[in-house]
Amino acid sequence: MRLPIVAGNWKLNGSRESVRLLASEITDKSFSDVEVIVCPVALHVPDVASVVAGSSVKLGAQNAAFEEGGAFTGEVASSMLAEYGCTHVIVGHSERRSLFGDTNESCAQRHQAVLNAGLTPVFCVGESLEEREAGETLSVVTGQLDAVFEHVGNAAFDQAVIAYEPVWAIGTGKTASPDQAQEVHAAIRNMLHARSPEASDSVRILYGGSVNAGNADELFAKPDIDGGLIGGASLKSADFFAICDAAAKQYSQA
Ligand code: PGA
Repeated sequence: MRLPIVAGNWKLNGSRESVRLLASEITDKSFSDVEVIVCPVALHVPDVASVVAGSSVKLGAQNAAFEEGGAFTGEVASSMLAEYGCTHVIVGHSERRSLFGDTNESCAQRHQAVLNAGLTPVFCVGESLEEREAGETLSVVTGQLDAVFEHVGNAAFDQAVIAYEPVWAIGTGKTASPDQAQEVHAAIRNMLHARSPEASDSVRILYGGSVNAGNADELFAKPDIDGGLIGGASLKSADFFAICDAAAKQYSQA
């Protein structure tokens, strides 16, 4: 059984004071049977790094540059994030794709840059509502993953995490049903199998999109859902803990 991950994507929220407080509430709780990652905005990374240092809570960034350095105004390189203790980087979140011009190709480049710095990408895939309604979910997700395989090679996800986040479920309160999510997770694992049989067994595939304390149990009970990427509900420690407990319960009961 794969150790589940619960990752909090704090998005563009918080102040230095509030993120330190949230991080310290999280590090005060001891987690077992679940890997916990928090992803503050890049500017808050040093503050949160100092709070989580020495705890089991891992630190992730929400994005990273597709190059190591040079004339890329406004970007942050993976090696710089690593210097501050980040171990993970979210790559290709749908908000980056839809609002900031990220494409399958630039996401693939970012994925490579994150791996080059020795960090773990949390690579996001997912379809829009129109794409789902047109029956294109699997072809969209395959295209997003194939772009990474083409750029990085068949081992692209051997040291990575994947997050399936249907765009229509993010921040909307609409969650994919556990069966809908499981179907896509299983398809992703199948796709990986053709490229890297080893990775297809070991890679953690997280579900994201309106996960909360009330629906986490049902989602995480599905065999190919290995935890969650959590937005809104990660900003309140009580909700976040309930989601972490739901993931840990699946692991300990397996
Ligand atoms: P949400 O966000 O949990 O608020 O839907 C998830 C995400 O965007 O990663």
